Amino acid sequence: MKKIIFASMMLSLGLLGACGQEGKGKSSNDNNMEGMNHSSMDMSGMDHSNMDMGDMNHGSTTALQNNLGENELTFPDALKPDKEDGNSISYTIRAQQGMAEIFDGIQTETYGYNGAFLGPMIRVKKDMNVSIHLVNDLKEDTTFHWHGLEVPGNADGGPHKVLKPGDSETINFTVQQDAATLWFHPHPMHETGKQVFKGLAGLLYIDDDNSEQLDLPKTYGENDFPLILQDKTFTADKQLDYEKVMNEDGTAGDTLLINGVVNPKLTVDHKKVRLRILNGSNMRTYKLRFDNDMVFQQIASDGGFLNKPNTTNEIEVAPSERVEILVDLTKVKGSSVSLVNEDNIIILPIHLKGTKESSKTEGILNNLSIPSKIKNKPITKRIQLAGMDEQVTINNQKFDPNRIDFTQKQNETEVWEIENMMDLMGGMKHPFHIHGTQFQVISVDGKEPPASLSGLKDTLSLEPGQKAKIAVTFAQKGIYMFHCHILEHEDNGMMGQIKVN
Ligand code: C2O
Ligand code: CU
Ligand code: CU
Repeated sequence: MKKIIFASMMLSLGLLGACGQEGKGKSSNDNNMEGMNHSSMDMSGMDHSNMDMGDMNHGSTTALQNNLGENELTFPDALKPDKEDGNSISYTIRAQQGMAEIFDGIQTETYGYNGAFLGPMIRVKKDMNVSIHLVNDLKEDTTFHWHGLEVPGNADGGPHKVLKPGDSETINFTVQQDAATLWFHPHPMHETGKQVFKGLAGLLYIDDDNSEQLDLPKTYGENDFPLILQDKTFTADKQLDYEKVMNEDGTAGDTLLINGVVNPKLTVDHKKVRLRILNGSNMRTYKLRFDNDMVFQQIASDGGFLNKPNTTNEIEVAPSERVEILVDLTKVKGSSVSLVNEDNIIILPIHLKGTKESSKTEGILNNLSIPSKIKNKPITKRIQLAGMDEQVTINNQKFDPNRIDFTQKQNETEVWEIENMMDLMGGMKHPFHIHGTQFQVISVDGKEPPASLSGLKDTLSLEPGQKAKIAVTFAQKGIYMFHCHILEHEDNGMMGQIKVN
């Protein structure tokens, strides 16, 4: 297995970040970089080459191999409702184990929802009354968590809502939020990383009148494609042996699967397409662009549409985040283009055929804003993310299922400050996620957030040393988790809980 050392990179980036911050003068907040006396450290004089990187085994990440583009990409089936009448819809979701033929002629033991591997796409519309029957057909405990969905705490499927093997339960909720690409996955204590790695992950689409009226590609599997990005390491006999490959600092893999397909390629007409990208990886962050460097437009983030398309040629997607992008394939010269990651690693080759269809793009997609009354509210909740491997903590504590860390009133907006603490080894990126809410980013390091973070978010990934202010509102009541979405960090207790009443 090829390994690259990115600790040294992280380290120098982290330190550079700190130096840069210092250069801009004193932060308005005194507890900035608490516990570290920066002024006495001469960072610029540090010689990184003297450091023994060999000791930092948690700082290296497995390199991703190029996708060879051998297999046509497939898309999760849209789940058929058990019943649909008027404004009510019901579904059944079963967590089960199975065998999937990921590699030709080889059976891999996997987990899936309503199938051997991964899960179906569930589609609901705003204002609908939804009922989902949950069944655990696994031989171990699991839960069904609805990532990004604003549901009452008792339907959210956190670690308290365990279903034993053979058990089932029905949850009911009304969809109250706007159109978005959400997802679902298990959340049992200490087992989330393994169960997601083995294949438990599915898509949850919310539509609304706005999303149905906008002139955007919206035909599932034709011009509106989900891309669930997951990196896995297979054993020599092509099995997903989590215990063998897991890393306390986040399990990265050398083999990329998209929608569960290895070495996928997408064959499509020259037209404008919408890619709904979900990073369903345990720890890897992707930095995506096209190999011809063409621009594309980000139209949505975790919780739905941005106010207007954000034109860019690169986008970062941290674990659990979703971005929706519009790609105008009529602009491609030649018959192929590839979506690539850092270091030009091929993520998805796109083969173009047929005639060019012209299309236009909507200008206005949404009308979000943060009232200055809220922007100027004092910070009432502080989160400090710290550590690596088993040492990870939030506010110096590990998760305790019997401890409520915060309380907040339903429908009341509070300003949270999230800080990724740097340590002497540089620290690492932590994607911070809150259940049961879509929040808005007020600022990152005191500055207006970039366009990519201007929409609704349920996960915010911060570099070591970064600090953000977010406006958080819970529309429902109950107990919700907040945690780092590097699944091994979550499993190692980098998680807390808030009670909304
Ligand atoms: Cu994807 Cu606790 O979340
Ligand atoms: Cu979640
Ligand atoms: Cu983390």
